[in-house]
Amino acid sequence: MRKNRLAVVGALAAVLVAVTGPAAVAHDEPPTLADLAQRHGRYFGSATDNPELTDAPYVSLLGSEFDQITPGNGMKWYATEPQQGVFDFSQGDEIVDLARANHQKVRGHTLVWHSQLPDWLTGREWTAGELRVVLKKHIQTEVRHYRGKVFAWDVVNEAFNEDGTYRDTIFYRTLGPGYIADALRWAHQADPRVKLYPNDYNIESIGPKSDAYYRLAKELRAQGVPLHGIGLQAHLALQYGYPATLEDNLRRFSRLGLETALTEVDIRMYLPADEEKLATQAEWYGDLTEACLAVRRCVGITLWDYTDKYSWIPAFFEGEGAALPWDEELRPKPAYYAIRDALK
Ligand code: G3I
Repeated sequence: MRKNRLAVVGALAAVLVAVTGPAAVAHDEPPTLADLAQRHGRYFGSATDNPELTDAPYVSLLGSEFDQITPGNGMKWYATEPQQGVFDFSQGDEIVDLARANHQKVRGHTLVWHSQLPDWLTGREWTAGELRVVLKKHIQTEVRHYRGKVFAWDVVNEAFNEDGTYRDTIFYRTLGPGYIADALRWAHQADPRVKLYPNDYNIESIGPKSDAYYRLAKELRAQGVPLHGIGLQAHLALQYGYPATLEDNLRRFSRLGLETALTEVDIRMYLPADEEKLATQAEWYGDLTEACLAVRRCVGITLWDYTDKYSWIPAFFEGEGAALPWDEELRPKPAYYAIRDALK
């Protein structure tokens, strides 16, 4: 009798292997965030930075848990055109190569930004005519270099002030607001297939700053300027509250036919972290994941690095940190499990 039962179990197991393939039976590793996101047609990614790539355990998790990578610094202007007309794509290439080896897609970050510019650009005055030439060359050389290797570009980064007025940058001051449409057109010429986004922080809620993007997007679409999405960085902080209108905000861009993406997510807190703060943080990570899943054309979520070991927060906000879903020892925090739950 027992022998018969064993035979039946054995036969069933054989059928199971035949139907599902040996891999499904052989190891029962939990699905990664990328696996779970893909079931919803989304990606789940992380930023990374070149100096971190010597950290083997870090690189291993980066390669297995995520299906999208953004270089945190390596594709910025100071890194890619350190002298006028002299281009260096070595840092971005290193990250693109790593991503390729891990079957991950790459978001290009960023072409036009007032920060991390090379000294040759900021150290002198330019006429509008001169700066147009410099800007066009920078954009087109970089976009051409990464053609077919990045799926989207943060073309213009952080172009607006909190009140929705244009940020007073070298580009706005010299070229006027039309620099944004020009940048998008030039990028599109250099790679007609890549998705083009403006990208900014504090635009998760509906308010003056996100309204400015909404107006801009409508105008650009009406003018036929190539624009495919809006990147919401989502650098959140427990002390400022959860952006309750996030989902509605994503939806209004979606109704314009635009993609949205949460491009630089982290949720910082005052240190030390405690159980309660980590629980609130976890809830927010879950909520923002659900918001993206709930809205058509919200294409994916990118953490601004995945571990507290490499977060930008402690260096920029004194006394704050613990912003990411993995701790400094690469152990998953409650936030990680909340993201998993939201994706299930
Ligand atoms: O490269 C130098 C190195 O030579 C030097 O030894 C070291 C000493 O501090 O500094 C290094 O430069 C740092 C650079 O990152 C590269 O690591 C800068 O000090 C540091 O300020 C810079 O910070 C970056 C920050 O942008 C600059 O604003 C962060 O890593 C990067 O994560 C952050 O990313 C931005 C996004 O691009 C746009 N949205 C906001 C986000 C967070 O600030």
